[in-house]
Amino acid sequence: MGHSVKNIVILGSTGSVGTQALDIIRAFPDRFEVVGLCNGRNSQLFKRQLEEFKPQYFNTLSDIEKDYAGSKFAAAEEIVSLLDVDLVMASTVGCAGMGAVIAALRAGKDVALANKEVVVMAGDLLFKEAVSSGSRILPADSEPSAIWQCLEGEDSPASRLIITASGGAFRDRTWKSLTDVTPEEALKHPTWVMGSKITIDSATLMNKAFEVIESRWMFDIPFEQIDVTIHRQSIVHSMVEFADGTLKAQLGPTSMLQVIQHALMYPDRQPNDALPVMDAVSMGSLTFEEMDRSLYPCFELALDYGKQGGTYPAALAGADEAAVELFSKGKLGFTEIPDAVEKTLSDHVVISNPSVEETIETAAWAMKTTLNRHNENTFLS
Ligand SMILES: NC(=O)c1ccc[n+]([C@@H]2O[C@H](COP(=O)([O-])OP(=O)(O)OC[C@H]3O[C@@H](n4cnc5c(N)ncnc54)[C@H](OP(=O)(O)O)[C@@H]3O)[C@@H](O)[C@H]2O)c1
Repeated sequence: MGHSVKNIVILGSTGSVGTQALDIIRAFPDRFEVVGLCNGRNSQLFKRQLEEFKPQYFNTLSDIEKDYAGSKFAAAEEIVSLLDVDLVMASTVGCAGMGAVIAALRAGKDVALANKEVVVMAGDLLFKEAVSSGSRILPADSEPSAIWQCLEGEDSPASRLIITASGGAFRDRTWKSLTDVTPEEALKHPTWVMGSKITIDSATLMNKAFEVIESRWMFDIPFEQIDVTIHRQSIVHSMVEFADGTLKAQLGPTSMLQVIQHALMYPDRQPNDALPVMDAVSMGSLTFEEMDRSLYPCFELALDYGKQGGTYPAALAGADEAAVELFSKGKLGFTEIPDAVEKTLSDHVVISNPSVEETIETAAWAMKTTLNRHNENTFLS
């Protein structure tokens, strides 16, 4: 059966997920046409991508000229809304990705979503927009993708989601012993190779709380039915339990390539020599342990505020982004991250049922408030 070409826009094309999305696209030249690329400040790599993929439009925070190698500069919100766009790969890091994701959903485009902070900020709004415009949000984050794949073909709802967690860089240490850890140490993830923010969020387990919040909206299931279990090998990417006690799990190599390919090609599965494969024997033993919540204060904190809703989750995402930035710059200790986030959240005057604009403003306020408290007003990236 022939397949039509998907016109795709990549947000965050120079990042860890963005470059892997382009690897998939490169492997299937007959299936994708890149019509737009957007990035932050890495001009060298971005220029090479513009030269190779020749999109009609691009957006960048770098100083590349407005007309480059045949591509034209435009606002990300405009690029994702172009008439011929079929799919938007949302792989920007952090709260900055929100505007373009909302624009894509409002324009009725399918969105492959890696940029989890955006779901944390306003999951209910995002899914309402998707329902009203008929667009689909396709998980491109490994745990939600695993849950999605377990649910595919099932008519019955899940009774429980079990999200797996590697435990991050410091999984064998006590919280108290982490006072002096450096950003370099926090960036050594035991199983995954990813961008720096998500790797530090993995060390605090803020990332895992984000995945719980993400899954709550993605699969429309109450928080009380979502559990987290420590799985050191990162081979079982998550599990779903059904009413009859059956557990379904999705297993695979510790790689985002399959996850991204599934979101980009859904519902089709195609062979791709570039994808890592693993046989059952090489997996060895798979272990599952209860999570010791006392090791991860960010996890409890994030879930508390995530559950409260309103603008709290947006404030949480903004405050965390700033705290990670402060830690990366050596201006905040690792164990001070939850305190910095909590201080901002406790100063926040919550708005219930916020609009998109209020959500974006709240995240920006939380970022600024957290940075200012440490006499910092600029971002590294
Ligand atoms: N990496 C993974 O394996 C993985 C797995 C699951 C989910 N995710 C999620 O996917 C998202 C991306 O993660 P990543 O690891 O790929 O991050 P990353 O490597 O840091 O890449 C982030 C991308 O966003 C761009 N960017 C940063 N700030 C921007 C801004 N203000 N405006 C526009 N673009 C901006 C960056 O551009 P420049 O680099 O050019 O500045 C880069 O292209 C995150 O939300 C993360 O939680 C990642």
